[in-house]
Amino acid sequence: MPATVLVGTQWGDEGKGKITDLITSGFDIVCRYGGGANAGHTVEAEGHKYGLHQMPSGVMVKGVVPIIGNGCIVDPEVLVSEMDMLEADGISCEALRVSGRCHVVMPWHKDLDGAVEAKLGSRSLGTTKRGIGPCYADKMRRTGIRMQDLRFKDTFREAIENALVTKNIELASYGLSTYDADEVFEGMEEYVERLRFCIAETSDILNTALEQGKKVLFEGAQATMLDIDHGTYPYVTSSNCTAGGAVTGSGVGPTCIDRVLGVVKAYTTRVGEGPMPTEQLEGTEVGDTLCEVGHEYGVTTGRRRRCGWYDACITNYAARVNGLTHIAITKLDVLDVFDTIKVCVAYDVRGRRYETVPEYEASFDEAQPIYEELPGWKCDISGCRSFDELPKNAQDYVRFIADRAGVKVAFVAVGPDREQTIKMDWE
Ligand code: GDP
Ligand code: IMO
Ligand code: MG
Repeated sequence: MPATVLVGTQWGDEGKGKITDLITSGFDIVCRYGGGANAGHTVEAEGHKYGLHQMPSGVMVKGVVPIIGNGCIVDPEVLVSEMDMLEADGISCEALRVSGRCHVVMPWHKDLDGAVEAKLGSRSLGTTKRGIGPCYADKMRRTGIRMQDLRFKDTFREAIENALVTKNIELASYGLSTYDADEVFEGMEEYVERLRFCIAETSDILNTALEQGKKVLFEGAQATMLDIDHGTYPYVTSSNCTAGGAVTGSGVGPTCIDRVLGVVKAYTTRVGEGPMPTEQLEGTEVGDTLCEVGHEYGVTTGRRRRCGWYDACITNYAARVNGLTHIAITKLDVLDVFDTIKVCVAYDVRGRRYETVPEYEASFDEAQPIYEELPGWKCDISGCRSFDELPKNAQDYVRFIADRAGVKVAFVAVGPDREQTIKMDWE
């Protein structure tokens, strides 16, 4: 069967952009199925480096159709600026198709995101402030504006006016400025005009392509531990980032998916608040080394990412909730500098041992990591292009991750560039 889902297994920024770009040439369509401009996917190839937020990372590969599925939310200004950036470099976005069912991130969603965070004070989530929570909340409340409402000037103008009936009350209740429908319309029309060509029935496009035997890659954004249902609630995003989201977020049936590729960073990072059992705090030698060597600063917000040792319990959990068939291990080269490398193999929660994520958040908050220590390899592996070229201790580290996860290793990445990759079990 022709569809593959690529999914983040940890707290995001595992290198999904790099792996998506790497494997895209084997597909006809690359479809994002969730999230919005909170995502920041880096693609580095042929001397160029792009940080993509809305656009599927497969856009760089000629002939591949990029699709933004209905599970995504779209910030028109961000999407248009990405199209301009890519087209300036000769990368065509003409084939892009965006589901008419996608909800649109409006200016007030961003205002409310910031205001809610400010009101929460010390209990804030550390969101990207891209309007994600408020936009998905309107989707669930059934009061949002969708891409299909943008197709005609009059329906778009009317949708804004309807939304503002309640939105202005909500904005005022937070002490925020209210909006005038005409001003919003005029402020967005330039971007909306540019996007009208790509609004489409993408579920139909995907299903027709699958029926014709074409291959589809679903590119996940965010990650398993940020999933609204399976992540560390409330410190999560507002969508289903896990593999199941590929089905509801695109309008294909689950039977068309035969591979689920989990992207696994060789250590752990997290941006924003919430529990992270293996965290090595800023100011500690290990925490600072991982951050600096791994350049762990957010693509979307520039924030320093929290860093820590690899956590096998999380990969176990991700293997289960996503039904992983393969993993791609990224950033192995970042561990080149360590004499010994710790990996968390279990948690101790008040005397009880867990080898996966505990069911209740309160237990996860108290999870104490139980570590095993593996020997480092202390040499530069960024030039290795086959498993055999890796030093023995690096090979053992890869085997350790694979054995614990119980899943085949498809790729090992040893640098940010498309070329800096070792292909293993992937057809
Ligand atoms: P994504 O959100 O999952 O697509 O990941 P990000 O792009 O936010 O963060 C991953 C970062 O690591 C980017 O800067 C990538 O260029 C970089 N990267 C990806 N794979 C590797 C790798 O194997 N080694 C190194 N050193 N960097 C990598
Ligand atoms: P990619 O696709 C890392 C985090 C935010 C915050 C929480 C909620 O690049 O891996 P939101 O703005 O979504 O309401 O924020 O989720 N977050 C991410 N962290 N990578 C991402 O995307 C993220 N998208 C959201 O930092 O903790
Ligand atoms: Mg990212």
